[in-house]
Amino acid sequence: MNPNKALWEKGDFTRLANTMRGSGEALVASLGVKPGMKVLDLGCGDGTTAIPEAQAGADVLGVDIASNLVAAGNRRAQEAGLQNIRFQEGDASGLTGLQDKTFDLVVSIFGAMFAPKPFDVAKEMVRVTRAGGRIVMGNWIPNDPTLVAQILKISSAYSPPPPEGFVSPMLWGVEKEVAARFAAAGIPAASVSFARDTFVFNYSGPPAGFVDEFRNYYGLTMNAFDAAEKNGKAVDLQRELVDLFTRQNTSKTATSIPATFLRVTVAV
Ligand SMILES: C[S@@+](CC[C@H](N)C(=O)[O-])C[C@H]1O[C@@H](n2cnc3c(N)ncnc32)[C@H](O)[C@@H]1O
Repeated sequence: MNPNKALWEKGDFTRLANTMRGSGEALVASLGVKPGMKVLDLGCGDGTTAIPEAQAGADVLGVDIASNLVAAGNRRAQEAGLQNIRFQEGDASGLTGLQDKTFDLVVSIFGAMFAPKPFDVAKEMVRVTRAGGRIVMGNWIPNDPTLVAQILKISSAYSPPPPEGFVSPMLWGVEKEVAARFAAAGIPAASVSFARDTFVFNYSGPPAGFVDEFRNYYGLTMNAFDAAEKNGKAVDLQRELVDLFTRQNTSKTATSIPATFLRVTVAV
């Protein structure tokens, strides 16, 4: 059993993805996607960015390790009447079956950052991008005060320590680390640029209801609650998360929470 795959097939990430659609569309609008462009969306989930890329006319392949999310993506594409997008299972650490220099644009928004073996991930993204193409990653930033970094920080305090040799996905949010990974894949530092960007999570209920979505459907938070329950600490974890979500909510009538991420652009 692959623990990386099991984590993302747990629960139902589409419940959280539903709160991120507006930001996914806005991000794609900033990418300059043109009809006929060949785009790989890596760690695509159910297509928060992949579907808008196809709607902009690109020829899109969505690759994700979770079979339930691949199925959800293909369903959403069909419902949207899109013929120019296909979702398939694959691992960002080893893109078996994808040819060298295939894509004009490789996009990975909070996706490839969660794959193990980050140096292999950088190498694979570079390998499948054509010369003159681009890679755009969105990566959460360790210790950032905004929502996602804080959820991960709080959750990890209630979870068992990771196995030896585990490399934190959050290191993809550290510029020096990212540059080193792409340098090892043959990309000079001058070809890698960084910017801060924002995704906004919009949920129709109150902040505590949004915490429940994470508790019931987001693998990482589900695991943290499982561990906290065993230690009699689930109430503390719930309280910490509700406090966090309430503090960061900018809506008076529902839940709207911005979160900062590192946007990485690589010219190949
Ligand atoms: C936070 S979700 C983001 C999904 C999507 N990009 C979005 O913005 O909604 C992380 C995604 O990365 C996928 N993922 C995790 N590890 C992966 C790997 N090794 N290879 C490919 N996808 C992976 C998960 O299955 C999940 O769909």
